[in-house]
Amino acid sequence: MTRPIDTLICVDKANKDLAKAYAETLSIAFFETELSDGLSSKAFEKSLAEKTSKNCVMLMDEGGLHLQILRPSVLKIQVDFTSSQMKYRRLKGGGRNQLIAKAVGLKSNLSPVVLDATAGLGKDAFVLASLGCHVYMAERNPWVRILLEDGLRRASLVAENMPDLKSILERLELFEGDAKGLFESQVMETAGVIYLDPMFPHPEKRALVKKEMQALQYLIGEDEDTEDLLNMALSTKVKRIVVKRPRTEEGIAFRKASYELEGKRNRYDIYLQSCES
Ligand SMILES: C[S@@+](CC[C@H](N)C(=O)[O-])C[C@H]1O[C@@H](n2cnc3c(N)ncnc32)[C@H](O)[C@@H]1O
Repeated sequence: MTRPIDTLICVDKANKDLAKAYAETLSIAFFETELSDGLSSKAFEKSLAEKTSKNCVMLMDEGGLHLQILRPSVLKIQVDFTSSQMKYRRLKGGGRNQLIAKAVGLKSNLSPVVLDATAGLGKDAFVLASLGCHVYMAERNPWVRILLEDGLRRASLVAENMPDLKSILERLELFEGDAKGLFESQVMETAGVIYLDPMFPHPEKRALVKKEMQALQYLIGEDEDTEDLLNMALSTKVKRIVVKRPRTEEGIAFRKASYELEGKRNRYDIYLQSCES
């Protein structure tokens, strides 16, 4: 596989050591520079592009770690659990009445432990944790995982003075590597739900595709082993497997879902298993 990124650029002196450690983890080149001062954003992006032959870099600035796509168009993303969008979703997103809550089987007296086997940028996991679930997150793509790790780190700094956020973060645990490796681990002793939201085979072309999804499509493309992942999940003893799909996309597995929940854009296919399976 060709590597989409070969460079991490740090423009934040305060986080130089951390940025260097991230670069080492990803086995990519590390540059420290002050080139952002006084430059227009166009000139800044041009100077980043001069440091790599790839179309994007990892960028550590005062706002934390970002994926900065430079070509063909400019796109900058990061994981931010404290953004106004996430705050709105947390406080006004419909609580336990929202579709994702129903899909994982949240009840007033039941907050299942969820294994989010396709954590991505952690949005669904964060929503589930904010609704009271303990969520194990697995992410195998190293670029995505390090963005997630940095998002958790920054959120936990802010959370020192925010007890609500702190308790949500305490319910999130990130695992490195392929989720299939967790299916036979201790995690399965407590997990009541396996949640899957793989990269879809037919990326939406609409302008409305969120920039985070565009960036994931750029880094990952399609998750080609999704059917295996679902079949392996179905062979565990977990009683509820939930698959998030675009509303109009076919289901993944040969086995029909027990039932479906349909929203405006997404559909949740829910597979219920008996204890004996
Ligand atoms: C569509 S994204 C998930 C988005 C996520 N639900 C969110 O709210 O941000 C799919 C992610 O699953 C990851 N993934 C796919 N198959 C995986 C597997 N078997 N183990 C771990 N991660 C996996 C991909 O690398 C990708 O980052």
